[in-house]
Amino acid sequence: MTRKKQLEALHDVIRNCTLCPLHKTRINAVPGEGSVDSEVMFIGEAPGASEDETGRPFVGRSGEFLTSMIQEIGFSRDNVFITSILKSRPPRNRTPTQAEINTCRPYLEQQIEIINPKVVVLLGGVAITSLLGPRKVSEAHGQFHEIDDRKYFMTYHPAAALRFPKVKNRMREDFQVLKQELV
Ligand code: URA
Repeated sequence: MTRKKQLEALHDVIRNCTLCPLHKTRINAVPGEGSVDSEVMFIGEAPGASEDETGRPFVGRSGEFLTSMIQEIGFSRDNVFITSILKSRPPRNRTPTQAEINTCRPYLEQQIEIINPKVVVLLGGVAITSLLGPRKVSEAHGQFHEIDDRKYFMTYHPAAALRFPKVKNRMREDFQVLKQELV
């Protein structure tokens, strides 16, 4: 099976997933989208209302900002891969529980394995803590961390950047650091 087909098959499994109670309240599961050949993969927290309605990742206000940041460093949504820690929307966008994160984690691990990106970008505290263990975004942002031959880059969640102008500037600077790694 080609890697593209492997990823499509995994996404079909995710769309029909009933492993946690979030499947009862979601409209659509949101596996993620982009190229299987992506050099860089972006990981957010969980789908929000727009993502739940469309089944596509980062298509609401946070998504618009993330898309503009991706374009600013010379990429497009088509040549990166975008997903989140959870593939189903938590009711009222509450923070994912540890049980939900643990249940969903094998999906993310398989996506990373199939795509095998040069850098995995962790957007915000939930993504950072889920993959690397607890740390403050304000201290960790703009830095790389390598585990098991996999390179992670830590930055803010776009929703935080939309709320705080200072965070927006720091996130922009972080993306320039990321760009240097990808040339
Ligand atoms: N926020 C996320 O973390 N993921 C999405 O897909 C949308 C908003």
